[in-house]
Amino acid sequence: MTDAARIETARPTEFDSLNAALKRAAGLVDRTLDEVLPRPEGLHARVPEAMRYAIFAGGKRLRPFLTIESAALFGVPQDRAARVAAAIEALHTYSLVHDDLPCMDDDDLRRGRPTAHRQFDEATAVLAGDALLTVAFGILADAKTHPSGEVRARLVAKLAEAGGSAGMIGGQMIDMLAPERDYGEAEVILLQALKTGALFEFACEAGAILAEASDDDQRRLRDFARGFGLAFQIADDIIDATGTAEQAGKAVGKDQDQGKATLISLYGLDKARSEAARLASEAAQALAPYGPAADDLRALPFFLLDRPS
Ligand code: IPE
Ligand code: IPE
Ligand code: MG
Ligand code: MG
Ligand code: MG
Repeated sequence: MTDAARIETARPTEFDSLNAALKRAAGLVDRTLDEVLPRPEGLHARVPEAMRYAIFAGGKRLRPFLTIESAALFGVPQDRAARVAAAIEALHTYSLVHDDLPCMDDDDLRRGRPTAHRQFDEATAVLAGDALLTVAFGILADAKTHPSGEVRARLVAKLAEAGGSAGMIGGQMIDMLAPERDYGEAEVILLQALKTGALFEFACEAGAILAEASDDDQRRLRDFARGFGLAFQIADDIIDATGTAEQAGKAVGKDQDQGKATLISLYGLDKARSEAARLASEAAQALAPYGPAADDLRALPFFLLDRPS
């Protein structure tokens, strides 16, 4: 067998296990979200209806997977990991609902369906996003998430940091200013580390926080998340530059149209791809001490570089 053929036959097997783990994590977090999200009842039913519309629309559930897998490395009970995963997915979905609004990216398609403001209206989409953000902290603060109040407070504080103006929101601000600024490599990397990296970092670190694991464990998971997050964002930008809306479930070609600097606009496609592969390998190395238990986590960045959505 040639080397190329060996790689071809090795890859599907590697991703079979990951695919199964992604499916399991998605099933678990979806059941938990259904339990913890408000039901469409009462005079305000339109808000929970829009929250559920946005969240149960078939996202990849990557952040829940990262939390569930990182928690499993330390033997954290699955229902606790699933609650933290649900909180992160709620916050992530709020960020998408608001990112798609006319005052931001002005998009009509998300997760293969009309965006929340298209399906409902702008005011409902703003409110549903606000409520998804708020419920995330409620889930973390609930005693069902962890018996220790200190651990719960730590999760709340870390998510606030990751999602706030020094994290995801800061990244969104830098992104919105991109068309009128001339960002170089350092600015684009910072933009991405904040816009998407901060929440990925929390998703990975949360497993170690739930386990009250050592500082070294928390650092390793943050290191993995950092490389993973940048590789993920390059993959998202590659989809925007080369994919179709049908595959991606969202509009494509927008970064260039809106004059948003990405590593593709700076490096070109080939170098962006090889940089993403380098980051994926670097991220994988951070998890070396966990051996085969971390195989699915390690495979994720490579898998994403192959993905159409
Ligand atoms: C899309 O995130 C938005 C970015 C952070 C670039 P995902 O690619 O994880 O979107 P879903 O959750 O699968 O829809
Ligand atoms: C969105 O980034 C990131 C957040 C919502 C925090 P993008 O604008 O690149 O995401 P897509 O491409 O619309 O999914
Ligand atoms: Mg955006
Ligand atoms: Mg967008
Ligand atoms: Mg994008």
